[in-house]
Amino acid sequence: MSEPVIQKSNQSIEEETRRRRTFAIIAHPDAGKTTLTEKLLLYGGAIQLAGAVKARKNRKAATSDWMEMEKEKGISITSAALQFEYNGHVLNLLDTPGHEDFSEDTYRTLIAADTAVMVLDAGKGVEPQTIKLFKVCRDRGIPIVTFINKMDRPTKNLFVLLDEIEKVLGISAVPMVWPIGTGVDFSGVYSRKDKKILTYDKTPGGSQKSAFQTSGINDPELDSRFEDWVIKTFREELELVEGGISEFREEDFLDSKITPVFFGSAVNNFGIQLFLDEFIKIAPPPLFFPLKDGSRLDPIHTPFSGFIFKVQANMNRQHRDRIAFLRVTSGKFERGLNVLHGRLGKSVKLSSSFAFFGQDRNTVDEAYPGDIIGLVNPGTYAIGDIVATSKVPDLKGLPVFAPELFATISSSDTASMKSFRKGIDQLAEEGILHLFSSQTIGGGLPIIGAMGQLQFEVFKRRLMDEYNAPSTITVLPYVISCWIGREDLAKVPSSANLVTDRGGRAALLFDTEWDKGYFQKKNPEITLLDYPPIA
Ligand code: G4P
Repeated sequence: MSEPVIQKSNQSIEEETRRRRTFAIIAHPDAGKTTLTEKLLLYGGAIQLAGAVKARKNRKAATSDWMEMEKEKGISITSAALQFEYNGHVLNLLDTPGHEDFSEDTYRTLIAADTAVMVLDAGKGVEPQTIKLFKVCRDRGIPIVTFINKMDRPTKNLFVLLDEIEKVLGISAVPMVWPIGTGVDFSGVYSRKDKKILTYDKTPGGSQKSAFQTSGINDPELDSRFEDWVIKTFREELELVEGGISEFREEDFLDSKITPVFFGSAVNNFGIQLFLDEFIKIAPPPLFFPLKDGSRLDPIHTPFSGFIFKVQANMNRQHRDRIAFLRVTSGKFERGLNVLHGRLGKSVKLSSSFAFFGQDRNTVDEAYPGDIIGLVNPGTYAIGDIVATSKVPDLKGLPVFAPELFATISSSDTASMKSFRKGIDQLAEEGILHLFSSQTIGGGLPIIGAMGQLQFEVFKRRLMDEYNAPSTITVLPYVISCWIGREDLAKVPSSANLVTDRGGRAALLFDTEWDKGYFQKKNPEITLLDYPPIA
């Protein structure tokens, strides 16, 4: 593997910051996120072989998916950050889990991104998981670029698709390119800005591409190159687009008022380069990290700072270590730097810093705003921690989502009790699920809370695989949780399902939405919170 890009650079912080693009891909499962990731990495020369990103079914081992269960289930469970260089830019791609049960982890990873690429399946349009992920980006003010994939398959009417983005997501869709034909007739894309056409010919050995310049949509060359009716439809559609859809304006994009739209086919590697060329121009460099007071952190003139957005146990079976992923928010990171740890209020040395590429790791000596580094974590870092060489900046916090599924977990083997406890603690620290304790419910056993059933399965499996601790999970009947402030604790009636989270914060569990409403009616003086209160 080639040297990580991070090590090569020794230019000024400003130059390095401006050439960086840190982004995540959001998609409903199966829309083509993994395939797109794979193709983007190929353009970056980061990996040699297509198909190396994800092990699915009988495929080869994965680059960004490395856990056994992912290989078996063919889904992406963990997040990794991949860095590659393209046309003088350094791209940090945050690999977010695609399965809907892993939404909380995905949500948190999104916070470390400056741009999101939303992949839609042209035949399906906006799907449920897309909506959820989109909302997180929107709330956070992360600009969104749309890639409409699978144009080689039967698609929805393109205007219906654009309309769906506007109506369901509430953002104006501005096509940057327009496809020539769809499904079996998909023959190319036209760049509205350059009036350039990239043609697409599907051949038995794969797709072939060629580009040519037009004088506009009425260029006679179009008639000689494409089927009559295909080009007629294209011209009619494009006239509607030019006449009825507003132009791309950078301010609107950065304000999340519009989403630039690209069309293509990831699996056929068509439309990707055009997308990438535009993406590096329009996606913002890491200059805008939000602070609590609504202002933005100046990454260039502020000394080094960063925050932990993900904690992962057992990244490497041989090392058996825990890694905390840090996103650099300002200044230059240098290995061995002494920083102030905001939460602990003490100085720590950042000596073991790595960049990851699937299972491989390389030491990182320096990094710049937008970069992601992995730090060996002997329990020092938790999600949301901020470190800085001088004053710890007041970064806008990471969202925490209230779990909707609960279960007790017990060890089914007394001999492995110690590792069972250690496993529970470390895995909960990763934030893959919530850990509660209670004196009233669950018979004194630890209670785990998740967004989806699969999280429980993964938890159990990882306890076994990584800690050699067999466990029994018994699902509890609750479906809603709310946190309550310290000041309300004494007012909680003894009949309530009171639990305490790892941070010592109290929460209540309810069987149904109706129960929650009833409780609130009976106890109006207690404020039920969707997010944990700030300690
Ligand atoms: P995901 O990560 O968003 O879940 O989607 P993924 O990339 O795994 O793609 C889901 C399926 O869609 C895969 O097929 C993939 O090959 C296919 N696909 C991706 N992009 C395109 C495209 O542009 N056109 C067409 N026609 N298909 C596309 P699969 O059968 O589930 O897996 P595989 O056996 O092909 O890997």
